[in-house]
Amino acid sequence: MSIRLAMIVHGSAWYIPPEDREAHKAGCRAATLVGFETLRRGGSALDAVEAAIVCMEDDPTFDAGVGAYLNQDGVVQLDAGLMDGRTYHVGAVAAIERVKNPIRVARILLTSEHNMFVGTGATDYAQACGILLCNPEELVIDRQRGRWLEYQERGEPPSEAVFVGNPGKGTVGAVAIDRAGDIAAGTSTGGTPFKPAGRVGDSPLPGCGYYADNALAGVSATGHGEAIVRVQLARSAADFCAKLHAPAAAEAALRMLGDRVAGKGGLILIDHMGRVGCAYNTSQMARAFMIEGMDEPEVGI
Ligand code: GLY
Repeated sequence: MSIRLAMIVHGSAWYIPPEDREAHKAGCRAATLVGFETLRRGGSALDAVEAAIVCMEDDPTFDAGVGAYLNQDGVVQLDAGLMDGRTYHVGAVAAIERVKNPIRVARILLTSEHNMFVGTGATDYAQACGILLCNPEELVIDRQRGRWLEYQERGEPPSEAVFVGNPGKGTVGAVAIDRAGDIAAGTSTGGTPFKPAGRVGDSPLPGCGYYADNALAGVSATGHGEAIVRVQLARSAADFCAKLHAPAAAEAALRMLGDRVAGKGGLILIDHMGRVGCAYNTSQMARAFMIEGMDEPEVGI
């Protein structure tokens, strides 16, 4: 049976204020088109996921790459991870600094003998692989600097309520299936606003922020990382695909996140048949998908 190409992305599950919604939709649409075009030209699912995530890391609309949240020290520390559903290879970086596209470092790591590098080790690894390091200030946009100053004045980090009611922006992720039926999934983030230095959430952890298994599904998650890690959301969603159709599997995993750990967030997935699913328990989730045969991505928020 010939596999239909499919690409799905998200630009976080959160309260996305009305004035920011068009930018989120446009960013998700653009990333879907970039990823889908990569597949259409014969690229692999890994190529497509990397290309789509780079597109969103370069878009300051999202909390990934340029424009990410600053941590309590006023520094951008980024997390990203990528998994190949055919080989189960994983590449990930956490709390990396001075790199605009951490998903590119994750992709290089995926083909290495290692899975994950963190902190200065991750930055050194990126440089050793030929990735140009940037000035840390190049990752900071005025709006994020303004938010950081507000948090600084308040003297305390935002509570978990930021995931429920406050305006924000968030993590990005992508999942693709290619002509060979290979599935890849990846996620990239600047983490939570005003996080303590060195804090790492779900996004770079396989099985938590992303997971891919050709026999089941590829999944990318977004939301409150501490809760997502506790239920290994991405792996759980993929496991649900053994018994449920993609949309029902996504809903079942999200219900588990809410019921077991009162977590807030969302996820996207593509199952081994190329069917897409998406679920969230926040007020908005920016997302888009395209399946072979469609003229345009379907975009939602
Ligand atoms: N889901 C992103 C984070 O909690 O860091």
